[in-house]
Amino acid sequence: MNDLTAIVESAKAAFGVAQAPADLENAKARFLGKSGQITELMKGMAALPVEDKKTRGAAINVAKQAIEAALNDRRQALADAELEIQLKAEALDVSLTGRRRGQGGLHPVSLTLERIEAIFGSMGFDVADGPEIETDWFNFTALNTPEDHPARSMHDTFYIEGGSTAAPNLLRTHTSPMQIRHAVQHVKKYSEVSNIDEGNGLFSGSMPEIRVIAPGRTYRVDSDATHSPMFHQCEGLWVGENISFKDLKYVFTDFCRTFFESEDLVLRFRPSFFPFTEPSAEVDIQFQEGPLAGKWLEVAGSGQVHPNVIRNMGLDPERYIGFAFGMGPDRLTMLRYGVNDLRLFFDGDIRFLSQFR
Ligand code: DAH
Repeated sequence: MNDLTAIVESAKAAFGVAQAPADLENAKARFLGKSGQITELMKGMAALPVEDKKTRGAAINVAKQAIEAALNDRRQALADAELEIQLKAEALDVSLTGRRRGQGGLHPVSLTLERIEAIFGSMGFDVADGPEIETDWFNFTALNTPEDHPARSMHDTFYIEGGSTAAPNLLRTHTSPMQIRHAVQHVKKYSEVSNIDEGNGLFSGSMPEIRVIAPGRTYRVDSDATHSPMFHQCEGLWVGENISFKDLKYVFTDFCRTFFESEDLVLRFRPSFFPFTEPSAEVDIQFQEGPLAGKWLEVAGSGQVHPNVIRNMGLDPERYIGFAFGMGPDRLTMLRYGVNDLRLFFDGDIRFLSQFR
């Protein structure tokens, strides 16, 4: 091996062990730098006889080019390795399943309320909304339940001191106050354009029928597997000139059969008492099939609106008559989905709630 081949080999070896660009540049200086081995050989040529200069010069050049080529190869190799490391670090694993955004859903009781609104909507009922913090007048007195009436004891609720028609002081115990609130608004709207009976201040002119449901939250001092201090009710009211108990039976039967998707569902109107209706009935339903078949299940209170309540609506009971009902959407939801503890609806446990998505 002559001296040039040895230099080329040692340059290749030096480049080969360089692990970083800076190492490589240092190695390059040892061969091609100002006092590098190849540079020194070039300088030494001055001392050679003329006839040797040409061949020696050409040989040194070949060696120099070989070293430069090795240097470039190594530069490229180091750059490739660097890139490789970077790509690995930034790699996306496209085989990994993406994280989906969680899909929400409506609360089961909200699903029931939507369903109730849709069914009664199809029968021409409006939907009314009213305050949860009520006055004594709307929650009790206007509904024919004066102070000290025994029916008030079943409706214990949360009170604050004071209160008047203008200053609500209790959490409503039922949605029935909406009967009065909605009817009064309705009567006001039409009594402006018709006659008001001067004698007793009650409206006896013509007006479109009142046909409304009022779903919402209600409150009582009550708490166990089937009672929660906050619960839902949905009130219904249909008042006109010739609305009878038969209409109540028809409307409520139709509603229950549609709601439970069961054409052979049987209803029973069991005599009962409510101060604001006379006569009054509790509505029981009986499934003919499924796990609840044969049992009577109470779903609503109902009755013909009491004349005193009709008066408190601003209407003349000699002309206007109708029916009302109040049902529990929480209970309807339990029956529809087979849930046996009401508290599950209000615990906010996602494992329970996500089953209704
Ligand atoms: N408000 C009654 C309650 O909460 C339920 C009720 C009964 C409502 C009869 C009515 C009705 O409209 O006619 O116990």
